[in-house]
Amino acid sequence: MRKFGLIGYPLSHSFSKKYFTKKFEDHGITDASYDLFPIQLIDDLPKLILDNSELNGLNVTIPYKEQVIPLLDGLDPAAERIGAVNTIKIADGKLYGYNTDYHGFKDSLVKWIGPNTHPEKALILGTGGASKAVKAVLDDLNIRYQLVSRIPSDDCLTYDDLSSSPNHLLSSSLIINTTPLGMSPDIESAPDLPYDQLTESHFLFDLVYNPLITSFMEKGIEKKCWVKNGLEMLHGQAEKAWEIWNQ
Ligand SMILES: NC(=O)c1ccc[n+]([C@@H]2O[C@H](COP(=O)([O-])OP(=O)(O)OC[C@H]3O[C@@H](n4cnc5c(N)ncnc54)[C@H](OP(=O)(O)O)[C@@H]3O)[C@@H](O)[C@H]2O)c1
Repeated sequence: MRKFGLIGYPLSHSFSKKYFTKKFEDHGITDASYDLFPIQLIDDLPKLILDNSELNGLNVTIPYKEQVIPLLDGLDPAAERIGAVNTIKIADGKLYGYNTDYHGFKDSLVKWIGPNTHPEKALILGTGGASKAVKAVLDDLNIRYQLVSRIPSDDCLTYDDLSSSPNHLLSSSLIINTTPLGMSPDIESAPDLPYDQLTESHFLFDLVYNPLITSFMEKGIEKKCWVKNGLEMLHGQAEKAWEIWNQ
């Protein structure tokens, strides 16, 4: 039996467990199981691995995506650049870290905008973990971007900057929400943008996947923008983890 699972703390509801359990059932994969491992400290990881010799791979969630890195034997280049790991492959007692949010976002974005569309510039709303994976993808696709944060800094625009100068939205045809605004149950909230400046040339990508049409997306639809939610990315990052575990 091959074992897979998720480490994090606390682990109340898990997309990954539901996704992989259903995948194993649907595809008749009878030699694999997926469990939750709510470890209270990242230092509990070596013992977890010793106690579960059939473990082939793990997903990693809050609060360990960064803390786990010093415990790994190797890092995929994208995970190294992003500084966060959400997938671990265990082979011959060694642990290798990957960031499959990077792959999930990249594949979903490229499929959506098409290989022939190349946005001149993007705005990335939010500066948390997901934003770092999005940045790495845009770097690799040669799409220039500016970060937007609630906190003023040399590296970031603020939401006030966007409202006070129409140039920012005009020159950025791709706008990516990496904040949790709009996520259920807080479905009425949306990033504080001057939505009246949006046009039918704008592409709005929301990493939020629940609800499927977020308030951010609705405001874009009203202005005839192209909109995309984070569900395909979510499935894509899980499938990439499965691919890595089976390589
Ligand atoms: N679809 C997928 O596969 C996928 C993958 C990863 C994440 N996600 C989703 O992406 C979202 C962000 O994830 P994350 O791990 O990066 O979260 P996070 O680190 O908690 O937050 C992201 C950033 O959002 C900004 N932010 C937080 N609360 C805000 C508020 N009330 N108003 C305005 N900005 C706010 C903050 O940036 P500033 O402090 O700079 O403003 C924060 O650093 C979550 O909803 C998550 O579910 C989806």
